[in-house]
Amino acid sequence: MTASTIDGKAAALALREQVRDEVLRFRDTTGRAPGLAVVLVGEDPASAIYVRSKGKATREAGMESFEHKLPADAAEDELLALVDRLSADPTVDGILVQLPLPPQIDASKVITRIDPDKDVDGFNPVNAGRVAIGLPGFVPCTPLGCLKLLKAERGRLTGLDAVIIGRSNIVGKPIALLLLGESATVTVAHSRTRDLPEVVRRADIVIAAVGRPEMVKGDWLKPGATVIDVGINRIDVGEGTPRLVGDVDFASASEIAGAITPVPGGVGPMTIACLIRNTLVSAARREGFELETSL
Ligand code: GUN
Repeated sequence: MTASTIDGKAAALALREQVRDEVLRFRDTTGRAPGLAVVLVGEDPASAIYVRSKGKATREAGMESFEHKLPADAAEDELLALVDRLSADPTVDGILVQLPLPPQIDASKVITRIDPDKDVDGFNPVNAGRVAIGLPGFVPCTPLGCLKLLKAERGRLTGLDAVIIGRSNIVGKPIALLLLGESATVTVAHSRTRDLPEVVRRADIVIAAVGRPEMVKGDWLKPGATVIDVGINRIDVGEGTPRLVGDVDFASASEIAGAITPVPGGVGPMTIACLIRNTLVSAARREGFELETSL
């Protein structure tokens, strides 16, 4: 059996087009564009690339992108003051502080300072709590993207066995809560889990979010399982440009799985699409604007 490849790029494009249509209506009705503020501290090259593509996606959706750059040696107070200004600015619907932050800044303090109703990353503890108890709030973009891909592939998830490998606050834990909300039976595995292949073999749905290149092998999978690979690992193949691989060994897994996301082109593009989705949802809530499509 050969798995079908889940096309995250196509799904992301479709979501971005839906958002853009709603943004046009929002602008007609309210007379302003939804706005996303993205803050980058320092010069980390990977972060700079992410921030640039977030700004581009925001503008392509017809929204306003506010980009703020602070030097690598910026004081924590300076960043907190910027977050306060953005939280108070009525033209800003979403605030995203790109992580990681330099060591002199306490990331948790900064994230907690973002107005929870503008926290489109869903990292503020208020939103983590809302998601945990099923209240409307902001769901972090990568988990939301995974859920959308899963529902497009499997429809209702009720009663399915889901195994998540990884328990991070930004991916593993929120995905677990979302899948529980869909009435899946959820297992969260991690580095101390005993006999991981045996645990994974029970799963109808496998979410790999550990950051270990090609760790999950085809013979760990139940035949027909749906596999969502959140990993983005750069591995050195000795010829200058590193190769990008996921946490799943795609070659062997695609022999056994029913459907699998590729890396790149799977979860990655959905993350940015969900960010602009969250920004539109924030703007709509703030203006009392009713969305026509369930995004
Ligand atoms: N750094 C890597 N991924 C992310 C993300 O989704 N949000 C933020 N703020 N920083 C990141």
